[in-house]
Amino acid sequence: MAYISKNRWVDYVVFGLSVFLIFCLVFESYIELPVLVAWVGRWHPLILHFPIVLLSIAIFLGLTGKNIPRKLLVVATLSALITAISGFFLGKESISKGDLLFWHQWLGGAVALLSAIWYWLSGLQLGNAIYSKIIQLTLVGLIIFTGHYGGMITHGEDFLALPLEKTNEKIPDNPLIYQHIVNRILDKNCVSCHNPNKQKGQLLMTSLAELMKGGEVGNTIIPGDPEASELIQRLHLPMEDEEHMPPEGKKPLDDNEIQILERWIALGASDTMRLNHLENNEPLVALVKGLMEPDPMEKWKDFPKVADSTIRNLSSDYLTINRVANNSDALSVAVFLPPEYNSQYILDLERVALNIVELDLSGLPIGSKEMGMASQCINLQWLEIDCTPITDSEMDTIQSLSKLELLKVYNTEITDKSLPILKKLESLKNLYLWETKISEKGLEELRSLKPNLLIDTGIDGAIREFFAEKDSVSAE
Ligand code: HEC
Repeated sequence: MAYISKNRWVDYVVFGLSVFLIFCLVFESYIELPVLVAWVGRWHPLILHFPIVLLSIAIFLGLTGKNIPRKLLVVATLSALITAISGFFLGKESISKGDLLFWHQWLGGAVALLSAIWYWLSGLQLGNAIYSKIIQLTLVGLIIFTGHYGGMITHGEDFLALPLEKTNEKIPDNPLIYQHIVNRILDKNCVSCHNPNKQKGQLLMTSLAELMKGGEVGNTIIPGDPEASELIQRLHLPMEDEEHMPPEGKKPLDDNEIQILERWIALGASDTMRLNHLENNEPLVALVKGLMEPDPMEKWKDFPKVADSTIRNLSSDYLTINRVANNSDALSVAVFLPPEYNSQYILDLERVALNIVELDLSGLPIGSKEMGMASQCINLQWLEIDCTPITDSEMDTIQSLSKLELLKVYNTEITDKSLPILKKLESLKNLYLWETKISEKGLEELRSLKPNLLIDTGIDGAIREFFAEKDSVSAE
C-alpha cells in the first residue's frame, strides 16, 4: 500500500503535534506552564472556529462521496491539533477544574487525534474506505459535544477571566458591601468549588441569589442571624472537622474575613448596602477599611527607580538614606546637625524627591529653601520638622503633601495661621504639636474639624527629652 504525500514535513508536524497533545492530556497534572505558554491559551476561543468549519466542510465532502482536497484535510487537521493544545493551555490556567472542563478537554483532544488518524488514513489512500466513513461520523458527534461542553464552560462563571485579575481589582472608595467586599472573599476562597462547573454540596456561590437559595443542607445564609447560618457555622468548625470550609488543604479564612461575613449577615445580608450607609461605630466599618488599606509595597511599586550609587552619592555622615524595604524604591531620609550646617545636602535630595516617603529634618536650622525641597516630595508620608526655626510662611509650602500621614511640628514658632494648612492635609492622621504659638481655641477647632486626626499636644518632660535626644545626634 503506497503512502502518498508530497509534503513529508507536514506529516512530521501532524505526528509531532499529536504526540505532544497526547503527552499533555496524559501527564496533565505534572505539567507547570510558563506564563508565556499560558498566554497562548488565550487564543483558544478564537482559533477553535477554524477546525470546526474546516472539518465540517471536509466531512461533508467525504460523506457525500466527493473528493476531499488533501490541502483542506491538512489545514483542518493542523488547526484541530493546535486548537486542542491551546485549549489545554487555557484549561491549565483555570481555577476550577470541573466535570465540564474535563469532558470538554478529552472530547476536544479526541477530535484532534481522530482528525490526525483520518489524515493519515487518507494518505494511505483509504480515504473512501469504511473506516474513514466511521471516523467522519464519529467526528461529527465529537465536534457537537465538544462545542456543547465548551459553551457551557464559557457561559458559566467567568471561566475565561483570570483569577488574578479579579482579586487585584481595587476596592472602590465607597464599596458595596456584598459586591466589592463579601463577594471578593468568597471568590478568592470558595467559588473554586461552588460554581456551576463544580457545584459541591449543591451550593453555588456565584451570586447572592444562589447563596440565598442555599445547598443540600440549606440555611446557608439566614439574614440577621449569622450563628444560625450554615455558611458561618462551617467557618468556625475545628480545622480537622470534615465539614470545615474551605476543606482541609485550602487556606482558611482569616479572622477579619470571617467577621466581615458575620457582620454582613447580621446586618441583613443586603446587596445594596454601601460602606457609607453604616454608622461610624458599626464594627463592619473598621473591618472593611482594614481590607481596603493598600499594601504599602503596592503603592510604592510605581516609584522611579533609584540606584544604590545614587543613594551613596547623596548620603553623608550627617545624612542617612535607607530603603524602606529591601528592593523598594521608597526612601527614608534622616538629616542630623553637622558642625557646619550647609543646606546644599538637603537641596540635593531633589533628585530623589519622588522616592522619599519619610523625611526627618528635626533640630536643623532649616528655612524656606529646605522646606521648598520638602514640598516637592509629594509621596511623603512622614515629615519631622520639629525643633526648627520654621514659621507659618514655611508651613505654607507643605500644602502639596497630600499623602502626608504623620507630621511633627512641636517646638516651632507656628501660629494659628498654619491651621488652614493643617486642615488641608487630607491624609494626616498623626500630628505632634506642642510648644507652638497655636491657641487653645484654634486647636479645638482643628479637633472638631478632623475628628479622626490624632493630635498629640504634649507629653511629660521625660518623654519629651527622649524625643529630643533621638532627633539630634551631637556632633563629634
Ligand atoms: C476544595 C473545595 C471547596 C472549597 C474551596 C469550599 N468548599 Fe464548601 N463544600 C465543599 C464540599 C465538597 C461540600 C459538600 C460536602 C459537605 O457538605 O461538607 C461543601 C459544602 C459547603 C456548604 C454546605 C452546603 C449545603 O447546603 O449542603 C457550605 C455552606 C459551604 N460549603 C461553604 C463554603 C464556604 C463559605 C467556602 C469558602 C470559605 C467553601 N465552602 C469553600 C467543597 C469546598
